[in-house]
Amino acid sequence: MKTIKFALAVILVVLIALAFFIYSGVYNVAADEPDSAALHWFVETVRDRSIESRIEDIEVPPLDEAELLAAGAEHYDAMCVICHLAPGMRDTEIRAGLNPRPPNLAEHGEDHPAEAFWVIKNGIKMTGMPAWGVTHDDDSIWSLVAFVQKLPEMSPEEYRSLTAQAAGGHSHESGAGDGARSEAQAPGEESTPHEHAGTARGAQDGDHGSGVASSAADSAPVQTVARFFEALTTGNTGQVQTLLAPDVLIFEGGGVEHSREEYASHHMQSDAAFLRGASHRLISRAEGASGELAWVATEARITKSGDDDMDLASTETMILHETADGWRIRHIHWSSQSAASP
Ligand code: HEC
Repeated sequence: MKTIKFALAVILVVLIALAFFIYSGVYNVAADEPDSAALHWFVETVRDRSIESRIEDIEVPPLDEAELLAAGAEHYDAMCVICHLAPGMRDTEIRAGLNPRPPNLAEHGEDHPAEAFWVIKNGIKMTGMPAWGVTHDDDSIWSLVAFVQKLPEMSPEEYRSLTAQAAGGHSHESGAGDGARSEAQAPGEESTPHEHAGTARGAQDGDHGSGVASSAADSAPVQTVARFFEALTTGNTGQVQTLLAPDVLIFEGGGVEHSREEYASHHMQSDAAFLRGASHRLISRAEGASGELAWVATEARITKSGDDDMDLASTETMILHETADGWRIRHIHWSSQSAASP
């Protein structure tokens, strides 16, 4: 009898303590408050056991088909980079603030295909990892598993070329071959041609290795182009978006992006990762303006040293228009090739 009373008393005390814990607000739910070791152990163990007990029956299909990899590349670049990074990328603003921090899949990959499939399809509660199975079929999820497995072996250049090819082979909602779409003419915007003659100038003796090829003497459109490049190389994606018109049309590596929104959710992160820390040497620049429209064509050498070293010959044409807030980029055509001598 005594022991039963004692046990009931203990249970009562535990329940009161639990109620106090829940209702008093003592527990800090802030994401920027580090987890205690006990909580960390608890959530990791619950997660691992929960996943392990649910993946036994998953049959892994062959994962090294090129088509699967290409499909995975496109999905990954559009949906996962922002949290799980790409080769050469250090961090993103969203990843830095998440608790738990999403693993860097570009470094660690994921060697348990069934587990990766389950996690990608179902997501993980209270972590920020979404359930992609809600909007994607199993084939798309397997393509992601295939791509994530290969990710740690990929150089930034390989990543970029795989994702650019994938985007090129895929037609977006408005149609990749939409030739009727005007790239630089806003509705109701009148351009007055032949107002200024285009001025072409070489820039052989300025700006060498400066990273940002612009000076106060440059025209406002050229300064905008330089600011855009600087924003990409420093990972300032907010500034990148500010400088793009909402309906910017971007041609890159055979792929197309039809708006600022599409670029921001698609290639912007990988372009920023690719160009991070790169230096830009101007080889020639031509520009012209007509009313509120201007064009800037740039030939440059883009180099980066270190693990992910590169040496690219780059050509770029931008069409800009002037708004009340300054010049905004309406169209970009980029292409580049390796500059290493054969
Ligand atoms: C909003 C951020 C976010 C996005 C977007 C996101 N994830 Fe995650 N993902 C997470 C977080 C956070 C975790 C870690 C969860 C944990 O620690 O339990 C995670 C875990 C994973 C894991 C398990 C890794 C491991 O080693 O435990 C895989 C695989 C994964 N994500 C793949 C993807 C793929 C593929 C996509 C794109 C389709 C994607 N994620 C998109 C946040 C994200």
